[in-house]
Order: sequence, then C-alpha cells, then structure tokens
Amino acid sequence: MQLSGTWSILNGLVATLLFSTLTPAIELNIGDEQSIKDAASTSTYSMMGWYAGNETGQIPGSFPEKWWEGSALFLALLQYWHFTGDDTYNSLMSEGMEWQSGDKGDYMPSNYSSYLGNDDQMFWGLAAMTAAELKFPDVPDKFSWLSLAQGVFNTQTARWDTTTCGGGLRWQLFPYQDGYTMKNSISNGGLFQLAARLARYTNEDKYTKWAEKIWDWSLSSPLVNNKTWNVADSTQMSNDCADAGNYQWTYNYGTYLMGAAYMYNFTSDEKWKTPVDGLLARTLKIFFPNGDVFEDTTCEPIKKCNFNEILFKGLTSSWLAFTALLVPDTAAQIKPKLASSAQAAAKSCTGNNNNTCGIAWYQNKWDGTTGMEQEISATNVFLANMINFDTGTFGPVTSKTGGNSSSDPNAGEGSGDDDKDKPITNGDKAGASILTLIFVFSWAGIMAWMMLGA
Ligand SMILES: *[C@@H]1O[C@H](CO)[C@@H](O)[C@H](O)[C@H]1NC(C)=O
Ligand SMILES: *[C@@H]1O[C@H](CO)[C@@H](O)[C@H](O)[C@H]1NC(C)=O
Ligand SMILES: *[C@@H]1O[C@H](CO)[C@@H](O)[C@H](O)[C@H]1NC(C)=O
Ligand SMILES: *[C@@H]1O[C@H](CO)[C@@H](O)[C@H](O)[C@H]1NC(C)=O
Ligand SMILES: *[C@@H]1O[C@H](CO)[C@@H](O)[C@H](O)[C@H]1NC(C)=O
Ligand SMILES: *[C@@H]1O[C@H](CO)[C@@H](O)[C@H](O)[C@H]1NC(C)=O
Repeated sequence: MQLSGTWSILNGLVATLLFSTLTPAIELNIGDEQSIKDAASTSTYSMMGWYAGNETGQIPGSFPEKWWEGSALFLALLQYWHFTGDDTYNSLMSEGMEWQSGDKGDYMPSNYSSYLGNDDQMFWGLAAMTAAELKFPDVPDKFSWLSLAQGVFNTQTARWDTTTCGGGLRWQLFPYQDGYTMKNSISNGGLFQLAARLARYTNEDKYTKWAEKIWDWSLSSPLVNNKTWNVADSTQMSNDCADAGNYQWTYNYGTYLMGAAYMYNFTSDEKWKTPVDGLLARTLKIFFPNGDVFEDTTCEPIKKCNFNEILFKGLTSSWLAFTALLVPDTAAQIKPKLASSAQAAAKSCTGNNNNTCGIAWYQNKWDGTTGMEQEISATNVFLANMINFDTGTFGPVTSKTGGNSSSDPNAGEGSGDDDKDKPITNGDKAGASILTLIFVFSWAGIMAWMMLGA
C-alpha cells in the first residue's frame, strides 16, 4: 500500500460542519448473540454502500485508487457470513474475489500489478485463505480459494531477497516505488501468517519451513524483538537493516501474533506459545490506553489516520478473535478487550443521520468522519465478539477437519513470475500516478464545493 494523505479527516471536518446529529447509536448488547448480528448487519449494509462492483458496467472487487482495500472488504464479508449465517453478500464475494485474482491466480491482476506492494497482494491471499478456512465454497471452474492463497505464497517466496539484511521481503516490488529499498513488518509478518495458515490447513512441510524461516529472519532483524516483543514498522536496506522505523501499528503486532497462534495450534510446540503470550501481552498493553478501547495510537490522537490506517485495528480485532479460538487459554484476556472496544465502536455510529461509524472509537461518539474503512472496522470488531457464542464451529478448519478447497501446490508460478519481470513502461507508471492525481484533484474539487456550499 502507499502512503497517503489525510483526506478522510478533512472529509470528517466538513461532515461535522454540515451535520450535527442526534441519531441513536447502533444498539449493541455484547451478551446477546442476536444483538451482535444486528449491529454487524447495520454496519455491513453501510460498508456495502461504498461497493459498486456488482452494478452494471462496474468491475467486481475493484477499488482502483486503493486496490488492497477490496481484500479488507471481502475479509469482513466472509466473517459476516461465517458468524451470522446471512448469505446476502455471498455471490458478490465469489465474483469479486475471483475477478481480482489475475490470470495466474495469484492476485497480481495486470491492471494494478505495476504499482502494488507485497503487502497489498498478501492481504488478498489472506482473504482467499480465510475463505478456505471458513468453508466458503469454491467456485466451479475457477481458481479454488486454497490455490489462490498458494499462488500468493509461491510468488512471494520467490521474491525472498538475500541481497541485504540476510533475507526478508521488500515492501514494494519495483525500484520506482517508495518502499522498494525497505523491508517491513506487514509484508514479512503477512507472509509468515499466510505460511503458518497454509501449513496448518495442508499439513505440508514446505509451508512450515517457510513460516519458521520468515519468523527466524524477523527476529534476526530489528522488526521483531523477542525480549521486549516490540514490533517495529520497517527497516532500511541501505544500512543493512541496522535500525528500524519504530512507528507502532496494531496490524504489525496482529499479523505476527496470528502466525504464531496458528503455528502453536498446529504444532503444540511451546516454542510458539512464548511469542503468542509475548506479542499478545504487549498488544493489549499499548493499544488500549483509553477505557480498554482499541486504538491505533500513532494516528488517532493526532487525527491523522489515512484510509489504510483506519483499517488496521479492525483487521487486528478479527485476528485477536481467531487467536482466542486457536489458543483457547488466551481467550480470557482477549474477550473483555473486544467487548469494550465493540461497545465504544457502536457508540461511534451516530453519524450523518444514518449510523455512520467513526474512526476513534474511544471517544464514545461519532468523530465526524465518514468512509468505507470506518464501516469495515466496526463490522470486524462487532463480529469478533461472536466468539463468545462459539459451540465449536467458529474456528478455522483444515483439510482434515472439513475443509475441501482444492490444492494446487504450484499455483501462480506459471512460466515464472512474469508480473515481476515484466518491464514497466512509462505508460504503466503514468497510468498509476494519473489515477492517483485524478482522485486527489476531484476530491479537492468536491471539498471546495462543499465548503462553499456550507
Ligand atoms: C450515510 O451518509 C453518508 C453522508 O451522506 C453517505 O456518504 C453514506 O453513503 C450514507 N450511508 C448509507 C448507508 O446510506
Ligand atoms: C449490489 O449489491 C447491493 C448490496 O450490497 C444490492 O443492494 C444491490 O441491489 C446490488 N445490485 C445489483 C445490480 O445486483
Ligand atoms: C482491468 O481493466 C479492464 C478495463 O477497464 C476491465 O475490463 C477489467 O475488468 C479490469 N480487471 C480487473 C481485475 O480489475
Ligand atoms: C531470540 O531470537 C534470537 C535471534 O533469532 C535467538 O538467538 C534467541 O534464542 C531468541 N531468544 C529466545 C528467548 O527465544
Ligand atoms: C486449535 O484450534 C481449534 C479451533 O479451530 C481449537 O478447537 C483447538 O482446541 C485448538 N488446538 C489446540 C491444541 O489448542
Ligand atoms: C465442500 O464443502 C462445502 C460445504 O462445506 C459444500 O458446499 C461443497 O459442495 C463441498 N465441495 C465438494 C467438491 O465436495
């Protein structure tokens, strides 16, 4: 993903000027299963207000200026179906997740492949993996969910870079992108998580070996510290990863925690319990500073969360819920934090007279912002509380416990990693930046218009 501006905050300021509302919050009684489902249904409906991919003439699963966010939307929808049983959005999910999978089934679709990063592709791989683990049926004659996760794994492990830092994945794929000379936690921790989940689902050794390799490399780098359990954001190749940019983000912790939880569930090896406990303890300690409410502390207090960042704690809420299912003795610590966070998130959903949710849940009221990202994160934290009602059916399955998504160990490779090797023409580059510019300028236009109007 790319660094981006703070337009969602500006949007919020405008909205605050335009509307001062007394809309009731989303009602949420954490002790009542139906109440959680109803809250998630409301936020999911709002979330889908931003999705046009099922309309005539639109492209399924496509969010051109922020491609990876489609995967976040589908991750939320998969869980919505899994935890509530409501299949309203299932056909739209199958269609969108297949459409974006690319010709080779590895989430490198040619429309976007010239500017996507390892983290963007990885999130789509996690969405496909989630579909397999939650028994979302494969689509006949299309790529199976498992093979799509394998396709992402295969293309990314082929990019493992030993030119500096003793290994690791770069953040971005191409030299003209900021981040090409960096190795970061979400890309490496994301591939670690994907490898761990493939290991558990398929019981194949190559995934276990890769999970271990990525984990060991991460500890050997400044990204993950196995004494303090600090997870840094990124490190520079120019000085051989001697130090790290230490911005603290929920999802960097969440992805390493999730990978370790899968490895522990899969192997029962105490070697993996230590990181589960260490990463969980630090996550719960640093990201719940206000009333036990989940907060991306690097951007929320200063009101500068960009649209990527708004999604982080929603993704991590889901990962905490699955950690509690996979490593049952963590549940007692996790559940109260998910409960207080969901309650605060519900209180934030009073915006625009239509239950629009905010970014900063800890404020216990709408913070004036509006966006798909807010709705996705609220949906995730509501649904995370469904684990309180698990009767043994909510945990992710494996190929031995009911998962039947078909395997293709060579998925995505084809005749080589063409997308990576494909020379990027100036046309491609211009296309990508023009899209961004059009987006920014049209946004500025709307802003100016709204301000004049108000
Ligand atoms: C709620 O209102 C906002 C601002 O007008 C709008 O962008 C959004 O689409 C609306 N959501 C729904 C579900 O109608
Ligand atoms: C697209 O999906 C939405 C639900 O998010 C639904 O309300 C709408 O009717 C669908 N459009 C078409 C053309 O099926
Ligand atoms: C790529 O762009 C073309 C032209 O707009 C469109 O028809 C196609 O559906 C797009 N593919 C994806 C995966 O978005
Ligand atoms: C921490 O990681 C380092 C580097 O991989 C390793 O040598 C050491 O044994 C680890 N310590 C513990 C307590 O696991
Ligand atoms: C592994 O996870 C499942 C949930 O998917 C859970 O039922 C099981 O108890 C876990 N196994 C271990 C050894 O913790
Ligand atoms: C796989 O399982 C799903 C439900 O879990 C079922 O709908 C589907 O028919 C199964 N597919 C095959 C090929 O058995």
